[in-house]
Formats: sequence, structure tokens, C-alpha cells
Amino acid sequence: MTDALRFREAVPGDAVGIAALHADSWRRHYRGAYSDSFLDGDVTGWLLALWTERLSPPDPRAHTIVGERDGGVVALAHTRLGHDPAWGALLDNLHVSYQLKRLGIGKRLLTLTAQAVVDDSPGSGLYLWVLEQNTGAQAFYAAQGGAQAERRPVSSPDGDPTRLNGAPMCFRYVWPDPSTLLSAAAR
Ligand SMILES: CC(C)(COP(=O)(O)OP(=O)(O)OC[C@H]1O[C@@H](n2cnc3c(N)ncnc32)[C@H](O)[C@@H]1OP(=O)(O)O)[C@@H](O)C(=O)NCCC(=O)NCCS
Repeated sequence: MTDALRFREAVPGDAVGIAALHADSWRRHYRGAYSDSFLDGDVTGWLLALWTERLSPPDPRAHTIVGERDGGVVALAHTRLGHDPAWGALLDNLHVSYQLKRLGIGKRLLTLTAQAVVDDSPGSGLYLWVLEQNTGAQAFYAAQGGAQAERRPVSSPDGDPTRLNGAPMCFRYVWPDPSTLLSAAAR
């Protein structure tokens, strides 16, 4: 089923498709941590503005990969290279279309991300933040060799506390040596 999938660098024209995928994924998986008023409001518009800015022109220190099928964006991984002096590159967004989960697409995106980090700065780590409630994603990261490093409060989109539901927490997951993701993918 993943045969017809194509992975490529995002371009400015992907902003609408990426924002739609991102909003759908947040509505399904971030409810409870993000507020209903934010998720049920114009979250797609908020994300479209974010992705339009991110992609036009793309930040040379960012790396956005999309999975495309039948001309539509069905997966995305966005990484900020060299983001943290200690932890390395930040995998800021990783989403697979709800209908295509558990087909190996997330694993492929993580491998492509690790390759980009290794190519850009050998020796850099890779890390991300995942919601405490998002046990499915945590299981995915653990299956890919990610280690849980710490727990902290979730940062609100735009720093607006009304976009959160109470005081949700998140975990940092780390790969101090992302090349291990490349050797795992080769096995
Ligand atoms: C998390 C996510 C990116 C994983 O991508 P995916 O394509 O569904 O995962 P894969 O098919 O590559 O999974 C590879 C392996 O990880 C593990 N895994 C993945 N999802 C899992 C889950 N929900 N529960 C337990 N293990 C899981 C399994 O070992 C799986 O292999 P298997 O299917 O052969 O058992 C995807 O489910 C997603 O987009 N979730 C919603 C958005 C989200 O939570 N993003 C992360 C934000 S931090």
C-alpha cells in the first residue's frame, strides 16, 4: 500500500496540504492537551499561516519532508537542524495521515530525518517533545530506539494559554546518535 508513496522535500506550494494534514492530526491526537476552542476553531488557518511562513522561502536550517500519494500530502516530518547545543536537531512535527498509520511511513520519515541530521552535522543528536497523553507516539519512538529523557509542561501555540486544556505535560525523547536509526532501517 505504501508503494505509490513518494517522499520529497517540501516546497512552498505544499503549505495548504501540509496544514490540512497537520490540523486533522492535531484534532485527532492533541484533544485533551490543546483546548477544544483552539482545535475546533480556525486551527487550519493558524497552521496555514505557520507553514506558509516556514516554506517561503524555506529556512536553510530546517528540513521538511513530505510523503505524497495521488498528488496529496499524506505525511510530514519537519526538523530544525542544530537546534539545541546539547540535544541536537529538533524533530518539531511528525504526522502520518490517520488512514495510513501503522504501514511503516512514520519509521521511513524518521529514517530520512536521521539521514538529514547525519549528513548536515555528524555527531549531532536528535530529539523531540511528545505529549504525555500520546502513548501511541511514545510506543512508536520507543520501538525506534528513542529514550525518554525528561518531562516538562507543554508550550502553548503562540504562547497563548487559552490554547491549552489545563496544564498538559510532555516528554523529551532523544537519540544521542541518530545514525543508529539508519542501521536499524537497514536491518
Ligand atoms: C506516531 C506516528 C508518526 C507513527 O507513524 P506510523 O506510520 O503510524 O508508524 P509505523 O508504521 O512506522 O510504526 C513502526 C513501528 O512502531 C511501533 N508503533 C507505531 N505506532 C504504534 C502504536 N500506536 N502503538 C504501539 N506501537 C506502535 C510498532 O512497533 C510499529 O511496527 P508494527 O506496525 O510492525 O508493529 C503516527 O502514528 C502518527 O502520525 N500519529 C499521530 C500524530 C502524532 O502523534 N505524531 C507524533 C507527535 S510527537
